[in-house]
Amino acid sequence: MTANTCDTSMTLPPVATRWQSNEVAQNYDQERFSSLLGRLFNYLSQRAFRRALKSVRNELDVVIDLPCGTGRATAVVRQFASRVMGADISTAMMTQAAKRLGKAGPLSFVATDVTHQPFPDNAIPCVTSIRFMMHLDQDSRRAALKEMARVSKRYVIIEYGYTTLWLKLRRAVKRLLLTLWGKKTTFVRAVAWNDITDDLTQANLELVRYYPTARGLSESVVLLLAKK
Ligand SMILES: C[S@@+](CC[C@H](N)C(=O)[O-])C[C@H]1O[C@@H](n2cnc3c(N)ncnc32)[C@H](O)[C@@H]1O
Repeated sequence: MTANTCDTSMTLPPVATRWQSNEVAQNYDQERFSSLLGRLFNYLSQRAFRRALKSVRNELDVVIDLPCGTGRATAVVRQFASRVMGADISTAMMTQAAKRLGKAGPLSFVATDVTHQPFPDNAIPCVTSIRFMMHLDQDSRRAALKEMARVSKRYVIIEYGYTTLWLKLRRAVKRLLLTLWGKKTTFVRAVAWNDITDDLTQANLELVRYYPTARGLSESVVLLLAKK
């Protein structure tokens, strides 16, 4: 599964500002998820996310989806939670989310940096975060996860990019083929399982279950985490 594991430009703006412009926000879904592979990845990753949400559906009173981006994952959360809050650093992305999700149902938006959220400790039953950790370096990733754990009362459901020897080999072959084809490529980050468990330890979270998007074919995995 490859459609969303790479970006086609070599130099990318910093993560906090990359999705700030209206133009980028308006094109985000089309660029990422409209190709055949993009749609397949979207379907499989949402299936994994849905499974994680379903397993705790009775405890999903209020959920914050952070970052909500254009509301792709927020739309899934909405199927399970009584009340949903979409949060993001980019108001341009949240504008697209508001268009996608409409005004029906208990839904609100808040502009915030994931590492400095305006919520008290243990305030929200569940925090979800899709397609974000793979854009961060280790320090930012850990700061984000700690802050999600702080505001969560019980669960964090989060997508990671993880790698194995096989997936590294696969990525190397893909890089080679794209280079031979004359395409410049940067890949999103994928980390070893040990790094993920270290992140969890530092955030005082434990793994309840994990849901691979497409085992052996994709680096994406959705983790259902609980506070210790
Ligand atoms: C790749 S998009 C993913 C959005 C959505 N979860 C999805 O699955 O489509 C990444 C999002 O992270 C947001 N973002 C980047 N840095 C952030 C930060 N420090 N705090 C909150 N949101 C941030 C961006 O504005 C963007 O909407």
